[in-house]
Amino acid sequence: MNVLLAGATGAIGRRLIPALTNAGHHVTAIIRNPGNRERVKDLGGESIVADVMNRDQLLKVVDGISADAVMHQATALRGASPRLRPDDPTNALRSTGTSHLLEAAQVVGASRFVTQSLITGYGYLDHGDHELTEDDPFGQPRGTYGDPVVEGCRSTEEQVLRADGIALRYGMFYGPHAFSDMFAGMMRKHLPILPAGGGGTTSWIHIADAADATVAALERGRPGQAYNIVDDTPVTWGQFAAAVAAAHRTPRPKAMPRWLLKLGAPYLACLMADTSMRVSHAKATRELGWTPSRPSIHDGLERTEK
Ligand SMILES: NC(=O)c1ccc[n+]([C@@H]2O[C@H](COP(=O)([O-])OP(=O)(O)OC[C@H]3O[C@@H](n4cnc5c(N)ncnc54)[C@H](OP(=O)(O)O)[C@@H]3O)[C@@H](O)[C@H]2O)c1
Repeated sequence: MNVLLAGATGAIGRRLIPALTNAGHHVTAIIRNPGNRERVKDLGGESIVADVMNRDQLLKVVDGISADAVMHQATALRGASPRLRPDDPTNALRSTGTSHLLEAAQVVGASRFVTQSLITGYGYLDHGDHELTEDDPFGQPRGTYGDPVVEGCRSTEEQVLRADGIALRYGMFYGPHAFSDMFAGMMRKHLPILPAGGGGTTSWIHIADAADATVAALERGRPGQAYNIVDDTPVTWGQFAAAVAAAHRTPRPKAMPRWLLKLGAPYLACLMADTSMRVSHAKATRELGWTPSRPSIHDGLERTEK
């Protein structure tokens, strides 16, 4: 398939270009900065230059291009504020950006559309021991600090599923350029990164497994369906940080009281201290024929970080 990919230079995007080309697809990346052309080329793709938030520019640039599929992997999470702003740029990419890319999909004649979503769309709260599946309520505000992110996930999913596209609810990314690198960098600086007690449990996914699942969803996903893309082994943020410290040989993680974390970084307090979730990938395994090749963070960190 010819695939138009937004977010190609991000943590998952740069894994996706080789994963797609190795599977026989052709990638045209939508990049903002022409300086990234070479990087995309080295990864095996071509590029066009447009800002997804600029509808007129995007539609003009894609006019005359033909593609079978469009993928939305654009976020603005790098260097994001620890406080959610009403005009959060990632939320804008999930709402307005999705609608622009759906229009672009019509222009290029694409019949498939895959969007990035997140498991935290199930709600920033303690879900206990219940294993969350795609049948659980998703995208519903719960009266917590993370509600704007939930709303962003609802918006992209609602638009895409209505258009018979596919939504991928990724677990927390780790691997190169993702949470593990971020944690390792902070631990090297002896910065406190955890809520006291290690925080809640969450489901993870190595960035390479996330890319493989995305290719499987492109090829075999059912139109109008959402899929959880997580590994087999939910762990707490404390267990994650300890594993990263061992794999990256950094100082051990430091913690701080929840109230202090909430004061300085309320989103992280909501994500790491208040939220606990265990998510199932059974539907993705059944319908996409995909299973994570790294069943736990321990497998993933050992295989790629040492
Ligand atoms: N499931 C998860 O845990 C999850 C999901 C996503 C991200 N993250 C985390 O967030 C951090 C950053 O991730 P990331 O590298 O993917 O995010 P990022 O640095 O924000 O990059 C996202 C991609 O979107 C592109 N983009 C952003 N705004 C755009 C726009 N208006 N038009 C076109 N393209 C646009 C960026 O292009 P430019 O190169 O032009 O900036 C980049 O290719 C990582 O630690 C990652 O693990 C986690």
